[in-house]
Formats: sequence, C-alpha cells, structure tokens
Amino acid sequence: MIIKTFKTAEEIGVAVAEIFTKQVKNKPDSVLGLATGATPIPTYNNIIKNFNEGDFSFKAVKTYNLDEYCNLPKEDKNSYYTFMHKQLFDSLDILEENVHFLDGNAADTEAECKRYDDEINAAGGIDIQLLGIGNNAHIGFNEPADEFTNGSFKITLTQSTIDANKIYFDENPMPTHALTMGIKQIMSAKQIILIATGPKKAEAIKNMIEGPVTPQVPASILQEHDDVLIFLDEDAASLLTK
Ligand code: GLP
Repeated sequence: MIIKTFKTAEEIGVAVAEIFTKQVKNKPDSVLGLATGATPIPTYNNIIKNFNEGDFSFKAVKTYNLDEYCNLPKEDKNSYYTFMHKQLFDSLDILEENVHFLDGNAADTEAECKRYDDEINAAGGIDIQLLGIGNNAHIGFNEPADEFTNGSFKITLTQSTIDANKIYFDENPMPTHALTMGIKQIMSAKQIILIATGPKKAEAIKNMIEGPVTPQVPASILQEHDDVLIFLDEDAASLLTK
C-alpha cells in the first residue's frame, strides 16, 4: 500500500483525477471501476475539468460501478445510476452503452450478479478501481462479515451504513438491500485507488492499514493487493501511528 496524505479533499481530487486522465490518455479503451458517495465528487469534478481542457476522449472507455441499491428505480435521484450520470457521465463524451451498473431491481439477483461479473471479465478486467470507504470499513457494499466475499452478490445493509447514507433519502426510506461487487472481484482490479476524507473515516483507516487482515474490516484485504494507492486527508489519517 502506498499512502499519500493531503491537506484538503480538493487536492486529493486533483491528484486522483490526474491518474485517471493519464490512464485514459495512455489507454483510450480503459476499463474503469467507479464508486459513489460524497468522497469521489472532487475527483469527478477534476476529471471533467481535465476533459474540458484536454484533447482526449472517453468514447472507448468502459465503466463498471461498484454497487447499486435494490428496490429503487434507476431514475430515482438517489440511485447510483442517477448519481454517476449527474456527477460524471453527463459531462463527458462517454457512450451510454459503455457505462455499466448492477441492476438492483432485477427479478433474479443471482443471474444479474453473474451477468455483471461475466461482463467485467469479458471486458478484460478492471484497469483502475476507485474506492471510498464506509465508517465501518466497508468497500462497495461489502459489510463486515465472517468471510471475504467473491463475486457480485446481494447484501443486507448494516445499521451503520443505513445511518450514514439515510441523510440523502429525505422523502422515501432508504433501501435496506443492495447489489455489490464482491471482495475478490474488487481485488482482481489491476490497480486500486482508495480515497478517505474527514474524521469519521479515521478509525476505519487505522484498522484497514494497521490492523490484521480480517473480513470484519473488509478494506483490510487491500493490504494483500500489490498496487494500491491510498489518498487521505489529515482528518482521515489522524489515528495512524506509523
Ligand atoms: C456507500 C458506497 C460506498 C462508499 C461509502 C462511503 O456505502 N456504497 O462505495 O464508499 O458509501 O460514502 P461517502 O463517500 O459518502 O462517505
């Protein structure tokens, strides 16, 4: 793990956007694994800025998002489909047919998860996987568990995750289930970039970096990946001792 600490979330956004920009310039048909949440927004803003200022295209890029809520129409303002279009895709020249999500409303969730995993594999796997982290160290929606997960699957969200994300659901109750890429799937990305900002992430970051590798701290598995960059602001890094 390479750990980089910055003063502000905005500086992290600039630095991570630079990595994605270089990736797409060097490999125009890159396969990108993308994340939702507040954390990646400065990165997405700066990718858009670079796109507007640069001479490169996303037309051949494929994206796969980590997760999606169940029982939430994709047109809902809180679906990750809508989030990604609003925060990133609508401002790029990416093709709609190249952006991919798990369908949280699929009748047969097992078949849907298999379809998604097969598609990622057929695309050649993910070049860079962007991650945020939950307050309980979840990645994607892989909540603390007894075992590390494999491919995509349906998860029951923990109370900690519901409490952290329900602020966005002002009218309707927050979904209690989601489809998410599994840990093994995330770990098969060639490079992984995890961003954490703010004091609420400090304990998860300490456990992820300095604690044992355990499925009770899902992000701790990243210690076993050989190309991981961790971008932290000073608050998220504040409990690290090394
Ligand atoms: C959700 C997403 C995660 C994300 C996490 C943290 O649970 N499924 O991918 O990392 O929220 O969100 P935030 O960046 O808003 O703190």
